[in-house]
Amino acid sequence: MGTERGNWNSQLGFVLAAAGSAIGLGNLWKFPYITWHNDGGAFVLVYLLCILMVGLPIMMAEILIGRKTQKSPVGAMIEAVGRRWAWVGGLGVFTGFVILGYYSVIAGWTLRYFATCIGWSFKGFESSESTGDAFNAFAANGGLQLMLCGAFMFVTVYVVRRGIGGGIEKVARWLMPVLFAILVLLLGSALSMDGAREALSFIFMPDFANLPATGVLEALGHAFFTLSLGMGAMITYGSYLSHKQSVVRASAIVVALDTLIALTATTIMFSVIFSSPGMKEQISGSTVGMLFISLPELFYTVVPMGSILAPLFYVLVAFAALTSTISLMEVIVSYFIDQRKMPRAAAAWMCGLGTFILSALCALSFGGVPWLSRFSWVYRGTDGAKEGLFQHLDYLASNWLLPVGGFFITIAVGWFMTRESTEAELVADDNPGWFYFPVWRFIIRYVSPVAVALIIIFVIRGKDFS
Ligand code: TRP
Repeated sequence: MGTERGNWNSQLGFVLAAAGSAIGLGNLWKFPYITWHNDGGAFVLVYLLCILMVGLPIMMAEILIGRKTQKSPVGAMIEAVGRRWAWVGGLGVFTGFVILGYYSVIAGWTLRYFATCIGWSFKGFESSESTGDAFNAFAANGGLQLMLCGAFMFVTVYVVRRGIGGGIEKVARWLMPVLFAILVLLLGSALSMDGAREALSFIFMPDFANLPATGVLEALGHAFFTLSLGMGAMITYGSYLSHKQSVVRASAIVVALDTLIALTATTIMFSVIFSSPGMKEQISGSTVGMLFISLPELFYTVVPMGSILAPLFYVLVAFAALTSTISLMEVIVSYFIDQRKMPRAAAAWMCGLGTFILSALCALSFGGVPWLSRFSWVYRGTDGAKEGLFQHLDYLASNWLLPVGGFFITIAVGWFMTRESTEAELVADDNPGWFYFPVWRFIIRYVSPVAVALIIIFVIRGKDFS
């Protein structure tokens, strides 16, 4: 089995691949706008607590199931806690399909913005192309949307097809350092701008009077998405990890990197936004559009060396998205390899084609096909009705699938695996000094399930976390 399934070649390779999964559009697109929307400081602090108290322990739980069983989610749940848990793994595979369906569409946009920025850098910036209307016209261009997300999907399948060590790990080893380097470059430029001070105090000075009550749960919900938890992505990556490597250390590094990148990206974006007079009011109208409507223009009007940094910025977003789509795809593909005994290449192409059908529908749901863009199910949450396929899928995954999956994973690890078996996976000689097994076990048995159950209860009562 070992050789057929593949393995990471090194601990660093695993950490970079897992960090690649975690660091993605969640960090660069979602986190900045929910931070904006929740008024900064206090929300960020609460988010950090959620990451530390709930995210990190669940990350360890997922990786430990994977490493222990050396199987992808369905097989892993069966082996770790019994046949009756197979559906939790199955739910994870389905969740991967749903997230990939809409995620790849936004991922595709990064390619277009990269190309557009290259054009602007050479021929000069044209402000008429960087308005909300121009963006809407682009989003509604069905043919172009299909091409972009198809291209992204193709690259994803191509990498996954090459396997763990030779495909996923290799790509992560190249892309992640480039991503870090671009980010440092951008940070340097952003911190030299006038708005940097204001941005830093917005992000890092907590003022609890401004924190909306449900901000706490929103932070918790986002912790799942951003760390790739709740659907067995980390079980899958952990299943290719050898027993020599420390789960605790790897988890801590991945969580720290993800958080660092989210905060850095937010600092960069807000410094840019605060440096442009009047931009703050404009942003509030469309926080979701920050990445694709407001930022491109600002790069060319206020950022020093913007014409070099703008294309680099979209390369960064594309790379971050790619290492995440790879991990989503790997969850689906590994199911067919492990449970259905398919060869990797066939499984990869088949899953790629299958998910592309969903992505294609999603790509057409920004105006390309009116019905797909506008249908609205009975749901009426606190934030209004959902419109179109894209919003429905994001709602389904962020509000239901990830919390429910995460809830059952913590219950399985905390209550249905023996203390001895989890201890054997987590306690190692090279663990960092702060790790104390009884604390982890307490959190995973009591704190995490209660916290996640709260998200689900609020969702049932109509709160929207997507
Ligand atoms: N964590 C990624 C991001 O922040 C998205 C992602 C990749 C993901 N794999 C996942 C989310 C698995 C949930 C589960 O963009």
